[in-house]
Formats: sequence, structure tokens, C-alpha cells
Amino acid sequence: MSVIPNSPTLVAEENIEKIRAVVEIAPRVHRVILEKKDRLPLQGEMFENDKGHQIVLKQKLGDGAMGHVFLTEVDGRSVAVKTEKHSTAMLPMEIKVLLITMRENCKHFCRIYDYGNVRREYNYMIISLLGRDLYRLRSEMPTRSFSINTTTKIALETLEAIEELHSIGYLSRDVKPSNFAPGLRDFKEHKTIFMFDFGLAKKYVDRENRKLKSRGEVGWRGTVRYGSLNAHKRLDLGRRDDLECWFYMLVEMHVGEVPWRFLTDRAAVGKAKIHAREEGRANFFFKLPKQFDTILQMIDSYAFETRPEYRQIKKLINEIRAENNCPNHIHWDWQTDESQYSELTEAVSVMSDMAILAEQGATNVTDRG
Ligand SMILES: Nc1ncnc2c1ncn2[C@@H]1O[C@H](COP(=O)(O)OP(=O)(O)O)[C@@H](O)[C@H]1O
Ligand SMILES: [Mg+2]
Repeated sequence: MSVIPNSPTLVAEENIEKIRAVVEIAPRVHRVILEKKDRLPLQGEMFENDKGHQIVLKQKLGDGAMGHVFLTEVDGRSVAVKTEKHSTAMLPMEIKVLLITMRENCKHFCRIYDYGNVRREYNYMIISLLGRDLYRLRSEMPTRSFSINTTTKIALETLEAIEELHSIGYLSRDVKPSNFAPGLRDFKEHKTIFMFDFGLAKKYVDRENRKLKSRGEVGWRGTVRYGSLNAHKRLDLGRRDDLECWFYMLVEMHVGEVPWRFLTDRAAVGKAKIHAREEGRANFFFKLPKQFDTILQMIDSYAFETRPEYRQIKKLINEIRAENNCPNHIHWDWQTDESQYSELTEAVSVMSDMAILAEQGATNVTDRG
């Protein structure tokens, strides 16, 4: 049978080819457009939220691995806005955690005022404004360390924060000084240390509140300097690992450094952490009250599923406070003349984020799960 040019069948087939080509190209084009739009907002930018508020992204309070945190004002109140590229998709976990901590009236977590995305370009959440984080505050001390009074008070506050997070069924997996900050005096929250940054948070219980089993080897997550030995072994992390990070953080705060401060290689840092428990133990604990040794022994004795003995650890810290005649009322080392310490500008740091990243190392988010 001869084929008649431009017969209805042939035209239709041509069209199908065209349609097929468009269908194949379309997702690519769409992705390119989306990728172009997928971005971080700039300082000074403005957007309108669902409630009709004009949100102006003022000073940058911090920029981390995945996004920027800005200062803004909503209804005359200074607040913080954390942003990330739309595709990053780590904020939904943070929002989930903050909504639960708010529902459960947890004390050590920011209030979440609003969240959403701007034209699918970037995601945002508006949360309580805090003071400078503990990493910056320590770096700004002339000695680069905190007194035993401030260190032990921070220990109690941050342990309570971690216990609250665990009590709602979540792990942080990134406990470190730059993820804690005191509240502001202006809001009468300066006596409380808040925990934030739940980009790596993970549920460790199932729907029926049963503890999940260890998944074995899962890859590295968290920050090398504060990572637990299990993280170095790429093992699944549990509540005990959050406490191990917390412990390294406290040592650094009081001594001014951890022995592996200048090491960047993960394996070398892991070795140094083992050395600090064995031959290097006396040296590691030299400048610390004896209770620190007991606390590390407790943490090291916990298995993946063990519920840490928060109360006993708090008791040991209070013992240190009693032995050192620490006063009951809070006076943080960073607090200068009380009458002057009230500026909201206190929240804006003098230490650049690049300097912090270079020093402390970034959170590793490549192996999520
Ligand atoms: N609510 C807040 N108030 C003031 N500063 C904040 C607030 N949240 C974060 N920051 C600052 O921004 C930095 C980065 O925020 P964070 O939530 O830790 O994000 P990242 O995932 O980038 O580490 C923090 O270390 C802190 O200095
Ligand atoms: Mg952080």
C-alpha cells in the first residue's frame, strides 16, 4: 500500500513525535527554571507572609551550612528568620520539632511564629530571637574559656534542653556550642539557654513510642570536633551520643580547647578521642573537676538503647557547684554591667561566620537519614 503524503494518519504520527519530544524535554526545562529560582534570600530582601506581614530580612545573625539566619521584626517584636533554599528541605524537620516542643511547653526551645516558603525559591521559619551562641560567646572571652560557675550552669541548662528533646522522642545528632544560645534580657529570657538547629534531628522512637533498634552502620553525620566515637565508627546514633557531644562541648568551654582542636582529619580526631580516655586521660581531665571523669565513664558505659541518667549527671554537676561555692543566682561570664546588658544588638555578633566555620568545622549533612 502506497503512503499518501500528509494523510491524516501520518500527520497524527508526526504530532505524537512532537508531543513525545515536548513531554521528554518539559521536565528538564521545568527543572532548569526551578533550579534557577531555587536560591537563598539576600540581606535587605522583603517578602510578605500568609498573614500579610511584610518581613524584611535585616542583619544576618548567622549563616551556616545550609542557609542564613536574619534579624527581623513582626508586630514590633524582634525575631529571627531562618532561611534555606527550597530544595534543601531541612527546615521541615526543624519546624516539626519546634511545633512539638511548643505544644509540650518545653522550656529550652524557640517559639515558632510562622513558617512557609516564598514562591518555592526559599523556605523560612520565624522564631524567637536569642542572644549570641555559646561558641561566639566563648570566643569573645579574653581567656577563650568560661569559669566553673558559668560552665556548670551551661551544663545544667543544656543537659535539660537535651533531655527535653529526648523526652519528645527526638535526637539532635548535632549537639555543639553554636547550636545553643541564651535568651535575651529584653524578653526576660537571659537566664535560660536555648537549643536550636534541628536539621539533623531524628526520631528514635516509633509511633507506639517503642525505641527503634540500631540500624548498624549508617555513615557519618554531625560535626567532627564534637562527634561521638560511634559517629566516628559511622554507627547509628542514640541518646548517649548526644550526651557525648555535650561532654566535649563542656570540656572545650571550661578548658578553652579540646586536645584535637587543630586536627581536621576525621580518623585522627577519632584517635585523639580514644587517647583522651586511655594514656591521655590524666592530661585530658587535668583542668577539670573530678566529677567530669565520672560523667564520661557513665556516658561511655551506655549502650545504644540506654536512657541516660540525666538526674544523676545533674547531681554530679551540682556537686561541682557546691564544692566551688557557685552562687545560686545566675551571673554569666559574658554578662557585664547588668544595667547595660539589655541591647537587642547584643544578638548581632562581632565574630564572622567564616571564622567560626574555619575553626569549629561544619556540620556534615551529606549522609542524612
Ligand atoms: N533564633 C536565633 N536568634 C539569634 N541567632 C540565631 C538564632 N538561630 C540561629 N542563630 C544564629 O545563626 C547560626 C546558624 O543557625 P543554625 O540554626 O545553627 O543553622 P545552621 O544549620 O546553619 O547551623 C547560629 O549558630 C546562631 O549564631
Ligand atoms: Mg547550627
